[in-house]
Amino acid sequence: MEMKERIKSEFEKRFGTDGTLYASSGRINLIGEHTDYNGGFVFPGAIDKCIMAEIKANGTERVRVFSIDIDEYVEFGLEESDAPTQQWARYIFGVCREIIKRGGTVKGFDAVFAGNVPLGAGLSSSAALESVFAFALNDMFNDNRIDKFELARIGQSTEHNYCGVKCGIMDQFASIFGKEGHLMRLDCRSMEFEYFPFKPEGYKLVLVDSVVKHELVGSPYNRRRESCERVAAKLGIETLRDATMEDLERIKGEISEEDYMRARFVIGEKQRVLDVCDALVKGDYETVGARMYETHNGLSKDYEVSCEELDYLNDIAKECGVTGSRIMGGGFGGCTINLVKDALYDKFVKTASEKFEAKYGHAPKIYDVVISDGAHKCK
Ligand code: GLA
Repeated sequence: MEMKERIKSEFEKRFGTDGTLYASSGRINLIGEHTDYNGGFVFPGAIDKCIMAEIKANGTERVRVFSIDIDEYVEFGLEESDAPTQQWARYIFGVCREIIKRGGTVKGFDAVFAGNVPLGAGLSSSAALESVFAFALNDMFNDNRIDKFELARIGQSTEHNYCGVKCGIMDQFASIFGKEGHLMRLDCRSMEFEYFPFKPEGYKLVLVDSVVKHELVGSPYNRRRESCERVAAKLGIETLRDATMEDLERIKGEISEEDYMRARFVIGEKQRVLDVCDALVKGDYETVGARMYETHNGLSKDYEVSCEELDYLNDIAKECGVTGSRIMGGGFGGCTINLVKDALYDKFVKTASEKFEAKYGHAPKIYDVVISDGAHKCK
């Protein structure tokens, strides 16, 4: 059964009525990693994998929600002290609380949801979950008065305050603002953004999911952020967006080797996003690809968020002659994103699958990427 049909039939079975369907997407990011919380640039797009929820106000002060994929039902109230213990439900609870904290309205509702964003793959299933509820609750209880940036911030604050991840704004922004066939270059300092048509002639974007997750993402992620903040504080600036390599060299002796490496990656990554945008406009995919490899290298050696499996996938891509390849998202497992010439696609997918399986005993998962719309009400 299609996802929509499964949701509708489950909703009807549990609540004896029908509600309104909403969806919000996972995301990819072509380049610009760990730059969002440093006030830098990111270049994401929403993808054709989403979380869909059917929702209806229930006239009480309680939320009743069923996750089809986890096969679990949870009920909670809307006061701070009502926080559920289940991680997936905390995302929804957090969104409710963050709307209320901003003076918005949330009343009790019933919901059933399901999704096809792979979990733990670095495709932001959590942002998709936050965004679908933020979007829906804005529509249902707030006459869409909360603007889209604030909806993204509601998801981000949910991660900070209810899930322990001090993330940037990229994932929720992409999930809310995504547009079919377009990537978005977002300046995370000014929050200005631009849509870039993305239909590379003669190339495909393919994700190779290692299906490994090495660490709990929260604490090592937060430690990376702290390193960046320490260096910015040392330089007397708000974020590393305003730092140059020369600035960094100047204070090298006063910061730890680790903080130095983290900042070196972030400062270099800022320029790579701009280079990639320029190259895309010119149709220069060789430069796009070269920068992707540089980003991988920096994420692996300086930022240290890669792992053996992802480095191996990157090596295979290079050996096959893939134009660009790098780890995508927060790191510590998940996917590589690859820009592959059409003619090389079959060979690359086959080689990567076989070699990876031979070495690690399980095949990676392959996802073709279609850039799609972000949060919306379903027809
Ligand atoms: C995670 C975070 C984002 C961003 C990326 C790394 O996906 O949620 O805010 O920092 O990692 O680019």
